[in-house]
Amino acid sequence: MLKRPRRLRGGTLLREMVRETRISPSSLILPLFLKEGKDIHDPIPSLEGHFHLSPDDQVCREVEQALKAGVSRFLLFGLPAHKDPEGSGAYDDQGIVQQGLRVLKDHFGKDIYLVTDICMCEYTSHGHCGILYGQEVDNDPTLERLARIAVSHAQAGADMVAPSDMMDGRVLAIRNALDEAGRTDLPILSYAVKYASSFYGPFRDAAGSAPAFGDRKSYQMDCHNVREALKEALSDVEEGADLLMVKPALSYLDVIRAVKEATNLPLAAYSVSGEYAMIKAAGAAGLVDEHAVMCESAVSIFRAGADILITYFAKELAEAIRKGEIG
Ligand code: PBG
Repeated sequence: MLKRPRRLRGGTLLREMVRETRISPSSLILPLFLKEGKDIHDPIPSLEGHFHLSPDDQVCREVEQALKAGVSRFLLFGLPAHKDPEGSGAYDDQGIVQQGLRVLKDHFGKDIYLVTDICMCEYTSHGHCGILYGQEVDNDPTLERLARIAVSHAQAGADMVAPSDMMDGRVLAIRNALDEAGRTDLPILSYAVKYASSFYGPFRDAAGSAPAFGDRKSYQMDCHNVREALKEALSDVEEGADLLMVKPALSYLDVIRAVKEATNLPLAAYSVSGEYAMIKAAGAAGLVDEHAVMCESAVSIFRAGADILITYFAKELAEAIRKGEIG
């Protein structure tokens, strides 16, 4: 026998040396949920281990813990006190994400990197990701709002903006608005390939962003399609995106691979709330080893081609990497 693949699996040091996929805590992003108010640190029932945090010492405490675990990149979401049909809280200078950005940047400065989610669904009374015309989300009037949100986040201290609304043309609209505001330096991470997914359930409970009627299928993508993913990704490249994202991650590993091969921008994958909740639930039920399944799932997303992983397990993964369990 000339080929014995087992030869390269003979011991830990050898296996680690010949690994094809390398993971570092610098590739991990942890989502945080900011909530209007003071002194709030409330567990989120649908996302065990995560909290609604007020933009004060409470959010700083949580970030401090993440930094200790080795995570220093965050994705900010906001739960406003009031919603309206126009989602005006999203671009309010005193909005919840804007408050959080100022508090965190005052406290941690350049030790942390803050990405903000640009969308309207947490801020609109109808829960859709844009301005409505009848029962439909009206694409073009929504672009101007998205651009305003991005500029407002930039002015409050965001290091990067990440539009997740899936309107056509939003990357270009945001790029133009940022440039006009003098922020040619601010990168855009486009949720270029975002599917209309049932894996967002726990997030919508956490963020209070479920649509009041209908669904998001007229703007988010159909899970049957992958060539369409390339169309979306390539048009965002042309519109000036600096990084791309595929979301969700685990059921879309083929899409991650396809986008990676078709583009040359850094690629993020978002392992969404439903993926986290399933692993947690199966672990709690004693059906699988939660920690091991978490590690294997994360590795599979990087192996598929992701450079960056947005995950609710960021702290646990950073620790697993530090201990040499993966990486
Ligand atoms: C906002 C947004 C959503 C998620 C991230 N940004 C929800 C949605 O599109 O309904 C989902 C994240 C998750 O499930 O973890 N549009």
